[in-house]
Amino acid sequence: MTQHPPAERIVVLTGAGISKESGLETFRDADGLWSRHNIDDVCTPEGFLRDPMLVSRFYNGRRAELAGVEPNAAHRALAELEQAARDGSWDGELLIVTQNIDDLHERAGSRNVVHMHGELRRVRCMSCGATPECQGDCLPQTPCPACRHPTLRPDIVWFGEIPMHMARIDAALAACDRFVTIGTSGTVYPAAGFVAQVRDHADTLDINLEAPAIPTLFDRTLVGPATRMVPRWVAEILGS
Ligand code: APR
Repeated sequence: MTQHPPAERIVVLTGAGISKESGLETFRDADGLWSRHNIDDVCTPEGFLRDPMLVSRFYNGRRAELAGVEPNAAHRALAELEQAARDGSWDGELLIVTQNIDDLHERAGSRNVVHMHGELRRVRCMSCGATPECQGDCLPQTPCPACRHPTLRPDIVWFGEIPMHMARIDAALAACDRFVTIGTSGTVYPAAGFVAQVRDHADTLDINLEAPAIPTLFDRTLVGPATRMVPRWVAEILGS
């Protein structure tokens, strides 16, 4: 059987706004996480060196919050689009690049998901590099299940660190026909620069509760809550 390339390749970049209606906080909205926590304390390698307990508690708290929420209609619509590619009812390919450290895309059923800022459900051993699953609390003295050293840290990309999976992301951006951002303020690089990377070869769309600060950055914008706008956009793609 010969396989032809998909007629359409889509890269979707998601940010905290897609998980907001599930009950998780964003970062930079008025009530966001960075209004109550100091980035330098909880989201930098230096902060972790200074006070590993404070940082561990911050991420343990977020892990506990995540355990109490569910994917919403926006996560589910993206999973439905990927499923349509799998069952052949849509001749396309979808890659979700997420800045989110939650696992709501996966829990909605998406499989093609790249976590460029790491994952809350994993920790990383600074001695052996293992990335074991962590469902509950993880403290600085917790031994690594692989090497037994008490050198686990959250498997999160902190400010000043290099995002994960950039080679795969860059290749997908270079090959995509459509690029869609959902629920991101577009303030943190390199993700904020993706739209400039694809503008010469892809249609670009921004879906956000608020209109973008620079409206001309995207070919098109859909302004409204992700749970309403993403299913609408997916229905458009699937022609239903
Ligand atoms: N539907 C759609 N968009 C929404 C919704 C919603 N229901 N609620 C909020 N938003 C939008 C906001 O308007 C804002 O533009 O989501 C965006 C959230 O922006 P940020 O809080 O800056 O989150 P994000 O863009 O994901 O942050 C990027 O910053 O601190 C780091 O590592 C962290 O990955 C994160 C990165």
